[in-house]
Amino acid sequence: MTKKPASKGGARALKTRVKKKRGLKNSSRRWLERHLNDPYVHRAQAEGMRSRAAYKLTEIDDRYKLLKPGARVIDLGAAPGGWCQVAVERVGSTEEAPLVVGIDYLGMDPVPGAVVLEMDFLDDDAPDRLMETLGDAPDVVLSDMAAPTTGHRRTDHIRTMHLCETAADFAMSVLKPGGHFLAKTFQGGAENSLLEQLKKNFRSVHHVKPQASRAESVELYLLAKDFKGRPDDDDVADHPDEETVPR
Ligand SMILES: C[S@@+](CC[C@H](N)C(=O)[O-])C[C@H]1O[C@@H](n2cnc3c(N)ncnc32)[C@H](O)[C@@H]1O
Repeated sequence: MTKKPASKGGARALKTRVKKKRGLKNSSRRWLERHLNDPYVHRAQAEGMRSRAAYKLTEIDDRYKLLKPGARVIDLGAAPGGWCQVAVERVGSTEEAPLVVGIDYLGMDPVPGAVVLEMDFLDDDAPDRLMETLGDAPDVVLSDMAAPTTGHRRTDHIRTMHLCETAADFAMSVLKPGGHFLAKTFQGGAENSLLEQLKKNFRSVHHVKPQASRAESVELYLLAKDFKGRPDDDDVADHPDEETVPR
């Protein structure tokens, strides 16, 4: 399991404070202060990771072993690229034979070994574009998509849940039998109908709160492991039933 990173060096042990006179709103000042003092931010900078979010995937994968060498991965909401970096390294994707395809409507610097489409996943042709680019069915569908925050909590919640549900539908329509789906959701979040659908289609469903996810954040990850396959798949996964962990 990923450990919380220890503070490195004396300077980090001192809390950085942002002075009030900088003309920032209190909420922005608090955000900046939290960011400047966040050990995962420092670790990402030191290790050349694009985002602190990379450690959430690292931690989940260390525990649940989703990203096996040679696996094909789709990364929904890929920018700025932290999850792509982790996936590329763990599955052994290369520029010559990429196994990781991401999508985001925000542009990002290329991640060697990953192909990232700059488009909205909710566009009608996004699923086909992703599949054409990957070239074969994915073993893993990841979604860290989050709707831009409006400041209205309920609206933000509904929009991110919609992204999670659309990602789940996509995953169930493209995954290889035995494949896995991991998506960002919110605490108290996933609708029962989505959970029921996932429990029906995967051998086990888990809610995961990695240590790298801020304790005060309502963010939570939904992990559905070992896809049973579609009725028309002839190689439907043949594994003994695993225990399904209730919420
Ligand atoms: C939390 S960030 C992802 C961070 C990423 N996992 C990483 O490690 O760098 C969420 C991303 O979802 C993207 N996103 C939200 N809605 C989207 C959509 N409809 N289509 C594509 N990307 C979307 C946002 O643009 C944002 O870059």
